[in-house]
This record gives sequence, structure tokens and C-alpha cells, in this order.
Amino acid sequence: ELPRFVKIVEVGPRDGLQNEKGNVPASVKIQLIHKLVGAGLSVVEATSFVSPKWVPQLADAEEVLKGIKQEPGVRYPVLTPNLRGFEAAIAAGAKEIAVFASASESFSRSNINCSIEESLARYRGVTAAAKKHGLSIRGYVSCVIACPVGGATDPAKVAYVAKELYTMGCSEISLGDTTGVGTPGSVVAMLQAVMSFVPVDKIAVHFHDTYGQALANILVSLQMGINIVDSSVSGLGGCPYAKGATGNVATEDVVYMLHGLGIETNVDLNKLMEAGDYISKHLGRPLGSKTATALRKL
Ligand code: HMG
Ligand code: MG
Repeated sequence: ELPRFVKIVEVGPRDGLQNEKGNVPASVKIQLIHKLVGAGLSVVEATSFVSPKWVPQLADAEEVLKGIKQEPGVRYPVLTPNLRGFEAAIAAGAKEIAVFASASESFSRSNINCSIEESLARYRGVTAAAKKHGLSIRGYVSCVIACPVGGATDPAKVAYVAKELYTMGCSEISLGDTTGVGTPGSVVAMLQAVMSFVPVDKIAVHFHDTYGQALANILVSLQMGINIVDSSVSGLGGCPYAKGATGNVATEDVVYMLHGLGIETNVDLNKLMEAGDYISKHLGRPLGSKTATALRKL
């Protein structure tokens, strides 16, 4: 049985814009976030407090987070790779953070320059500090299906990292198919492994659409009881440390599918498409969702 309501976690301003070559001014990011919230999204991942040497696109994290008019009832999580990022995030007004580990040893090295165990140890410090400040915490696991350089990821490894993040206090575990190679077959096996350690209502799925499998993967996830889905307006995205990975599944396409299934999201598709128009025009790029492309032709 499918859920009646699905919570969409909009990651475009972070996962999308972290990968843009051209410079996107902070004012445009802020406007985009306001438009996404205006479309009814209740969780909008705003930015990352990471090293500007690693991700120069988000070097304006403080300006962006401070510039947002935070609406009551809306969550604006930000990525924090270490205590330094955490301190900067709370100083800029963050009320929710996200830590990001990997199920692949080599991706952990290339993305955050440490082993999986080292990252978990670091995140225990970050989550302890966040709990002290009363912040909620999302935990990401990347490479849940495969890693950009190595081969397939063992579902048991994904389950282990998810369990560790859950145990240290992450209230939501987002499972990332970083390179978008998963199919409904591999996704079901991975979810089964994670669901023996993390309650299904605490699990989110985060699909990149490199092979066009994301909507199918979301549908099987919903059939398994998951009701939190990450997506990116206009399919923005990719990961600078995952070569070849294309955008996240487009929020417009997710909303179109969910509403078609009779599942509520609280998202207004027309307003969402306006947010997509806004950022696509700014980037000088055609619309990145099939839904907006189709509806704009009518
Ligand atoms: P490092 O080089 O090992 O760390 O990087 P370090 O402590 O040696 O610091 C290097 C420099 O960065 C130093 O500056 C630090 O001060 C500074 P220097 O002394 O050379 O002038 N620094 C910082 N500056 C600002 N904020 C900070 C911070 N920390 C250190 N928080 C580190 C380690 C983790 C910092 C680095 O590797 C990093 O920032 N990585 C982030 C990579 C990233 O953001 N990747 C994309 C997000 S993950 C993703 O997209 C996947 C996901 O979507 C799920 C999925 O799709 O699967 C979530
Ligand atoms: Mg991602």
C-alpha cells in the first residue's frame, strides 16, 4: 500500500547549485529558496558549510542562510562536514544540519578526505554538539548502490553506515544513489538491508537520474513504505566528486507522479514550475524536468 502523503526534501539549492560551473549570486539562491518554499515545499536544503577550497560554488553559505526569511514550519537543513562547519552554520542561523557519510571507502576519501570510520567518529562529535543546541540532524549515506570508481556497494555496508548515523542521533537517514546507477532491483535489496536497522518512517531516498531510473526507483521505495523523497527543482545537480553523475530527479516530475498516484505533497506544481523557470533562465539552460517541458508546450 502506498503512503497517503509524501514529504519532499528539495535539495536543488544545495545539491544542484554545488555543481554549477558559472557563478550563481547569493541573491539568486535566496530568491530560489523563497520561491520553492512559496510553492509549498516544507524542507529546502539551503547550502553547505564545507571548505570553499573543495566546493567554491557554496562559499557564500553564510550570506545565503542569513539572507533567507525563514518561515515557520519550514526546515532549511545545511550540510556540515565537521565541527568547524557546524559552528559556522549555527552562527548563521541554522536550525537543522545534515552530516554526510559514504558506504564506499574510496568515495569517502575523494569527497571528504577521510575513511568511513574517521567520518563517523567526526560526525559523533558534530551530532553531539547539534543535540546540545537542540538542532535536528539529517544523515546521508552516499554510494548506496555503487561508487563512482569502484563497483557495486554491499547492501550490508549501507545498512551499517545508516545504523551508525541513526544511532548517533540523525532523525532522518537519506540514502543517496550518488551516481544514479540503481535500478528497482538493486534498490529493493539495499532498502531491505537498511530497513532491518532503521525504521522505515525515518528513511529518505535520494536518487540521481543518470540512467533515467529515478522515478521507478522512487515508486518501488514507496511500495516498501518509504514516505520521504529528495529531489531537485528542474533536475539540477550532480556531485563534484562523482564524475559523470548527472542531476537529481526533478521535483516537478516527482510531484507529477505522486499527484497522479493520489498521494498528497502540499506542493503547488504551477508555482514549483515558476521556481524552475526562474533558475533555468538564470543558468541559461532549458527546463530540466520532463513535466515542465511538457506543460509549457500546452
Ligand atoms: P580537508 O582538506 O581534509 O580538511 O577537507 P582540512 O581540515 O585540512 O581543511 C582544509 C581547508 O579547508 C583549511 O583551510 C580549513 O580551514 C578549511 P586552509 O587552512 O587550507 O586555508 N575548512 C573549512 N572551511 C570552511 N568550512 C569548513 C571547513 N573545514 C575545513 N567546514 C573537508 C575536509 C571535509 C573540509 C572537505 O573535504 C570538504 O569540505 N568536503 C566537502 C565535499 C562536498 O561538499 N561534497 C558534496 C556534498 S556530498 C553529496 O553531494 C552527496 C549527497 O548529495 C548524497 C548523494 O547524492 O549520495 C549528500
Ligand atoms: Mg546528491
